[in-house]
Amino acid sequence: NMKEIKKAVIPVAGFGTRLLPATKAQPKEMLPIVDKPAVQYVVEEAVNSGIEELLLVTGRNKRAIEDYFDYAIELERELEEKGKTDLLNVVRNVSEMVSIYYVRQKVANGLGDAIYHAKGFVSDEPFAVLLADDIIDSSKPCLKQMINVYKSYPGIILAVMKVPIKDTNLYGIVKGKKIDDRLYEVEDLIEKPNPMEAPSNIAIVGRYILMPSIFESLKDTKPGKNGEVQITDAIRNLLIKEKIYAYEFEGARFDVGEKLGYLKANVSFALKNKEFGKEFKKYLKDIVEEA
Ligand code: G1P
Repeated sequence: NMKEIKKAVIPVAGFGTRLLPATKAQPKEMLPIVDKPAVQYVVEEAVNSGIEELLLVTGRNKRAIEDYFDYAIELERELEEKGKTDLLNVVRNVSEMVSIYYVRQKVANGLGDAIYHAKGFVSDEPFAVLLADDIIDSSKPCLKQMINVYKSYPGIILAVMKVPIKDTNLYGIVKGKKIDDRLYEVEDLIEKPNPMEAPSNIAIVGRYILMPSIFESLKDTKPGKNGEVQITDAIRNLLIKEKIYAYEFEGARFDVGEKLGYLKANVSFALKNKEFGKEFKKYLKDIVEEA
């Protein structure tokens, strides 16, 4: 009678400093990847993984996200009157995908603190966390892959991928023992170690399956790297209490919270676009040859 994972938390309170000036007056999560805001890719991944209720942890200047998932009454009326049914459906479907709750993180105290805001929403169930900076393109949604792992290995599950050793200071890094195909039992984890201190090159990406025990742990977690409460530290405190697994997901991950990653995501998704992917590819070939 293992509890199924039906709830997910998406923290969207971050400032988007790495994308300035584009994010000066709008949430980074609303920047488009081809034709949809970045946050929609992550919401769709959650929905396609069986999530039924979502909590978005927002902050100041993030109201556009709430408006986006709400009905757009005037716009819909206009599209209806003009008989633009296809567009009307596209617009309306966004607001009917899933039930979304919102809570505001009033002070930017870090990812761990943002997740702590989900305590009341989560109650006593296992739940997922998806970071909106990480967009993952895969045939089976990354979170769904993790939920499948969870069925055989109930416990905390972290999505991981191997990174160049010089980049360990950008990620939570895991030390683990390989126990199955693509699966490690976690023995230690550390937030953004420099390459000299990193126990491996196995990096956490922004997908987690967590237990409600994380909230007790977060309460006792002191600010860590950058003076912020880190989720990595709170998970580390649970090593003695919970089984923790790291799962090497199948798929391509883009860090869209950063300019180059954002561009790569746009190009990659544009190439796959049904309407204009072929033409875009030809265009890219042409300009790359000229350059
Ligand atoms: C966060 C986490 C880090 C993780 C990363 C994945 O860092 O703190 O452990 O590896 O997300 O994207 P951030 O990139 O938000 O600084």
